[in-house]
Amino acid sequence: MRKKILVGNWKMNNNLKESTSLVNDILSELPQNGVELVFSPSFVFLHNVVKLCKSYDNVFVAAQDCSEIQNGAYTGDVSAEMIKSCDVNYVILGHSERRNKYAETNYVITQKVNLSLSNNLKVILCCGETLEQREKKVHFNFIKSQISDTLFHLTTDQINNIIIAYEPIWAIGTGLTASKEQAQEMHAFIRKIIAEKFGSIFADNMSILYGGSCKPNNAKELFSQVDIDGGLIGGASLSKQSFIEILNSF
Ligand code: 13P
Repeated sequence: MRKKILVGNWKMNNNLKESTSLVNDILSELPQNGVELVFSPSFVFLHNVVKLCKSYDNVFVAAQDCSEIQNGAYTGDVSAEMIKSCDVNYVILGHSERRNKYAETNYVITQKVNLSLSNNLKVILCCGETLEQREKKVHFNFIKSQISDTLFHLTTDQINNIIIAYEPIWAIGTGLTASKEQAQEMHAFIRKIIAEKFGSIFADNMSILYGGSCKPNNAKELFSQVDIDGGLIGGASLSKQSFIEILNSF
């Protein structure tokens, strides 16, 4: 059976003291509900957060990105190999903020996917359409192209290490959430295209997460949908109370 997963993407928030106390506070109230919990702090705090989570079976750490280059003279970049050397398990790739603010293309994201997998990192691959694309009814085709361009070259062994996060851009940080019907419809579509390419066993095993203004007041109805296996949470992952409430919504 596929895993239920909750990921807190802190983006560029929380200094060292705030990062460690948020993790400690959440770990002190961790419910035993079988949901895998993933913290995604800034690169500079990955090692600290990994140490805090080490003794918890179901708690892991994700980097928010990695370089598309293996290593070398790329000042400021962080490689997949460096991330893995900190005992990090996951990397978030293709977030819409990276695509839009740093002009990341599907080609660049594909290089990152390949380097992450070859360094034994699991990938949380983000996809999501704009409001304009949804209104023009091209959102299904757009999501399909984001997924096929970045994942369809993988082997079935590799696809087992991929999680997809559907994050409609119009819902990120806006307070607008996809309705449970809109989110379920897209998650089912994503699972269908994975099944068509890799087979239904791999599609059924893949966790597909929802992200975009997921909060304590809407998490339960989203997570109760058959194809929604958890969430990628931004703003509401920055407070212990709201993150724990979302964790208790499964
Ligand atoms: P919000 O939950 O703040 O809308 O952010 C979602 C997101 O981008 C998570 O990666």
